[in-house]
Amino acid sequence: MRRAGGTLDAAIVLGSGLSAAVSARIVGSEIPYDKLEGAPLSHLAGHPGIAFAGSWAGKRVVAFAGRAHLYQGRTPDEVTYFVRLAAKAGARTIVLTNAAGGLNTWYARGDLMLISDHLNLTGATAIAPDDSQPFLNMLDAYSPRLRALARAHCGDGRTQEGVYAGLRGPAYETLAEAAALRRLGADAVGMSTVLETMAARKLGLEVLGISLITNLIGPAQDVSHEDVLEASKEGGERIATLLEGVLGSL
Ligand code: HPA
Repeated sequence: MRRAGGTLDAAIVLGSGLSAAVSARIVGSEIPYDKLEGAPLSHLAGHPGIAFAGSWAGKRVVAFAGRAHLYQGRTPDEVTYFVRLAAKAGARTIVLTNAAGGLNTWYARGDLMLISDHLNLTGATAIAPDDSQPFLNMLDAYSPRLRALARAHCGDGRTQEGVYAGLRGPAYETLAEAAALRRLGADAVGMSTVLETMAARKLGLEVLGISLITNLIGPAQDVSHEDVLEASKEGGERIATLLEGVLGSL
């Protein structure tokens, strides 16, 4: 991570299909994951497995294009590897992005959702109790300060704010599951992010979570990984523009 040019300001974890727009704006170097000691390697389309380290909007950043997921049989330690690496490299801020299915009936495909809170429904945890901090405080886990900054820079009327339900996957949800998740208070659902947020809070990082709503979940709403990648390409630019504003005012 020295290649970011010193101590990191912020790290970004990029969800499915979201890497192109962000990586194009970082001036620096590319580090394939097989050069990062202990990094979990991934082979899913849309998850390239490259860290982009350099400067963006006057900040030293690293963007991880590709993450490990529980549905690949990865352990919570592997899933949170990039968060821990970012903290070790000095980042105080982490941006967790993902592709998600929309549950809130007001949402449209292509909307961004700033994550205000989450439901960890993975059945897993990413932290262990230690003497100094036996229980982790998860109130305001998604920084109200960073969300306010993001709201100030979204400027397109298609940015929502809501609750992300993190499931283990890899199946997309049944309609009954989607209905149940709505009743639990979820606005969007995906298969990542929640364990990374727990690890980040444990390490004292400030978290900004952004979902791109790549599909809506409801009757007659089909979804495939290809559809998700297609929608992500369009949304990636809007996430990159929003992040540029946020980074510039950190
Ligand atoms: N469900 C879960 N994860 C997802 C979805 C979905 O509909 N879309 C993109 N990631």
